[in-house]
Amino acid sequence: MSISKNKRLIAVIDADISHRRKVTQALMSFYDTCSFADAKDALQSLAEELPALIVVNSDVLPGDAASVIKELKHHETLKNIPVIFLSASETDPRADTAREAGADGVLARPYSRSSLIQSISNKLNANVENEWEALASPQRDALKNSVSVFREISDVLMSGDTVQFSAVKDNCQPLVSAIESGDFLSILDGVRNHDDYTYAHSMRVATLLTLLGHAAGFNNNEQLLLSSGGLLHDVGKMMIPHNILNKPGRLTDEEFEIMKSHVPETIDYLNHCENIPKGVFIIAEQHHEKLDGTGYPHGLKGSELNELARMAAIVDVFSALTDRRVYKEPMEASKAMSIMTEEMAGSHLDPHFIKMFRGVLIDTGVLK
Ligand SMILES: [Fe+2]
Ligand SMILES: [Fe+2]
Repeated sequence: MSISKNKRLIAVIDADISHRRKVTQALMSFYDTCSFADAKDALQSLAEELPALIVVNSDVLPGDAASVIKELKHHETLKNIPVIFLSASETDPRADTAREAGADGVLARPYSRSSLIQSISNKLNANVENEWEALASPQRDALKNSVSVFREISDVLMSGDTVQFSAVKDNCQPLVSAIESGDFLSILDGVRNHDDYTYAHSMRVATLLTLLGHAAGFNNNEQLLLSSGGLLHDVGKMMIPHNILNKPGRLTDEEFEIMKSHVPETIDYLNHCENIPKGVFIIAEQHHEKLDGTGYPHGLKGSELNELARMAAIVDVFSALTDRRVYKEPMEASKAMSIMTEEMAGSHLDPHFIKMFRGVLIDTGVLK
């Protein structure tokens, strides 16, 4: 079993060899997996190498799934690990006994690959979000509000409804207060293990963009615009297929074209929302533009690039380099900053704002 640092470990307990293979294969591009035919072996091994989540199939040996789940939930070291029970059908009575035994979620067969991944991701995120409760306000509220804004957006994207900008802005006030207080590292840490990549990236961009605005002397209202713009800048990525968004390695030309469409998708979404300020549109539309005109979607050049877009581009590149992804180690902040200063300043990124960003990262301890 090879465990890479960036993928969370999912354990599968399943006596049915072909189903066990199907589950582990479905998960392998997103998670590391270990699987067990025998529940007793599983308990012994898992206590030594803790998984992030355990999937228990209805078909287990020895005994039955409910007693295995009960044992997991009373186990000294494994009791807090979320368990998903896979029932044989929608009407499988073992679903209720599994829930009574402590299963955190139930998924009925036949299920799609995406619904299995979604169920796991939701449970992992619930655990990460529970840890936020221990933080002080405004850091805790900044995180909780941002995830609820994000959930609302993904709901409305599906239904075609819209969100009011005032709701996004109000939800960003704790983030602006956290930046003002100087303690925002717990916010960056708080999203590090979040399994929704677009959310985690957007919240990091929102935090660092507000920080840069604060350093540049932006007032409270302008900082709220930066926080909201950061949170909304990539919402169109929710429309990009998982296999492209999370592809390890280089995208093909065709895949890159699809990836680039997240910008018009975001603008399309924002156009359907009410009262979105121009600044938020600029951040969303221009954050992939480069000073030398080689960016997208419009190939804007030099002075055509708005100040907000220059700031957003810097924060977006820094975040992308230092984000935790399933396929790569997060880059050290100092290395990311060297690459940006040595290879991108002037050609792609605004040197004045890079200098300011570097200074504020040093002052706040992000960069040592
Ligand atoms: Fe983007
Ligand atoms: Fe981005």
